[in-house]
Amino acid sequence: MTSLTAPLPARTTVGIVGGGPAGLLLARLLHQAGVDCVVLESRSRAYVEQRQRAGILEQGTVDALRSSGAAERLDREGLVHDGVELRWNRRGHRIDFPSLTGGRKVWVYAQTEVVKDLIALQLRDGAPLLFDAEVSQVTAADTDQPTVHYTHGGVEHTVVCDYVVGCDGFHGATRKAIPAAALSTFERVYPYSWFGILADVPPSSDELVYAHSPRGFALLSMRSPTVSRLYLQVPNGTDAATWTDGRIWDELDARFAVDGDWKLARGPITQRSVLPMRSSVTEPMRWGRVILAGDAAHIVPPTGAKGLNLAASDVIVLARAFEELAATGSTAGLDSYSDTCLRRVWRAEHFSWFMTTTLHTAPDQSPFDTRLQLSQLDRIAASPHAAAELAQNYAGLPVG
Ligand code: FAD
Ligand code: DHB
Repeated sequence: MTSLTAPLPARTTVGIVGGGPAGLLLARLLHQAGVDCVVLESRSRAYVEQRQRAGILEQGTVDALRSSGAAERLDREGLVHDGVELRWNRRGHRIDFPSLTGGRKVWVYAQTEVVKDLIALQLRDGAPLLFDAEVSQVTAADTDQPTVHYTHGGVEHTVVCDYVVGCDGFHGATRKAIPAAALSTFERVYPYSWFGILADVPPSSDELVYAHSPRGFALLSMRSPTVSRLYLQVPNGTDAATWTDGRIWDELDARFAVDGDWKLARGPITQRSVLPMRSSVTEPMRWGRVILAGDAAHIVPPTGAKGLNLAASDVIVLARAFEELAATGSTAGLDSYSDTCLRRVWRAEHFSWFMTTTLHTAPDQSPFDTRLQLSQLDRIAASPHAAAELAQNYAGLPVG
């Protein structure tokens, strides 16, 4: 039943499904371009603001947040990083971004904070953003009136749109509006997961440390000068609750072990979770008047921190296309959206796969495979060209 007292307008130009980073940034960019939209998010505001996920922003993502007026706190509190350390065979090797990329760098600023900043702006002066609004389906994808069906407060509503953008993540509803025969999905599932913790302890290194070790991969990251974020490769199906804090720190210690006097500082663990890893790309990213962006269209394994940044680059391209449509009536940008994004998506897929398979130890890994990994890492240490390839991908390829 469609209520007469719907909490949102019954019609809009762009219906955005999902209020994660992709949906919120798109809404902000459209607001600036004067294109009207609504955002429907199935979860509560508190839930999306606390959901612990990515932590690294590329230059292009930061530029977009700045130009959309959403970077005030990021510029105050974000930590600028000029490099990362790769660690293997008990030795560290630093990759310097500015010298290898013509001046690019990355920011440590958690996804939770990006989402909080965008929500605050949206509620202050943006288009309508509705929480606890679950989209059940998108219909009429191949007409000029695609329609979003959602439930809010137990009542069903609809919004008729010019275009619907699915920013609703990997398990979202929007992709299902596209006939399966029109889509191709390319996928790889990895035989390991990440065990992630947050700990109230200053990071033991000024920069991130990606460690290859005979016991598997480990990553040292951070959320602030007083909060560390650490990850361990674990077997799929690992139950985070069965590990004691001591076992987590001992395992991290063993994997980060390095010659010299570096030591991993321990502190109270405040959060823990296990994250399975997959690569997936759905093509094309547009069908009729339904468009996919961010995790709704593609997933990367987290090694290399590309997921959030890819979501941002999709919607930067998309917002430009909607701006062009509003200004000139041309659909050229929308027509090329999928091809434009997929070129960058596949580069990020390759980089994330490369970082993952070079640094993790597969359960069936042979000594030959390990020698190949170590040879590749040695090459990165020895060759400015190999290091530059890593640095340019890590700091982020140009958008568009
Ligand atoms: P999402 O953030 O998934 O947002 C989609 C939104 O849509 C959600 O808010 C969801 O509630 C909403 N939604 C879903 N279905 C519906 C519906 N039917 N109706 C209405 N709303 C709906 N990347 C890294 O770089 N480093 C990391 O350490 C890292 N850790 C991660 C941990 C986890 C558990 C996950 C899932 C991802 C992680 N990522 C990480 C990836 C990164 O967080 C994502 O790439 C990023 O969140 C993508 O943003 P998005 O807006 O496309 O999708
Ligand atoms: C973080 C996550 C990543 O996947 C990564 O490569 C670097 C940092 C993080 O959560 O801080």
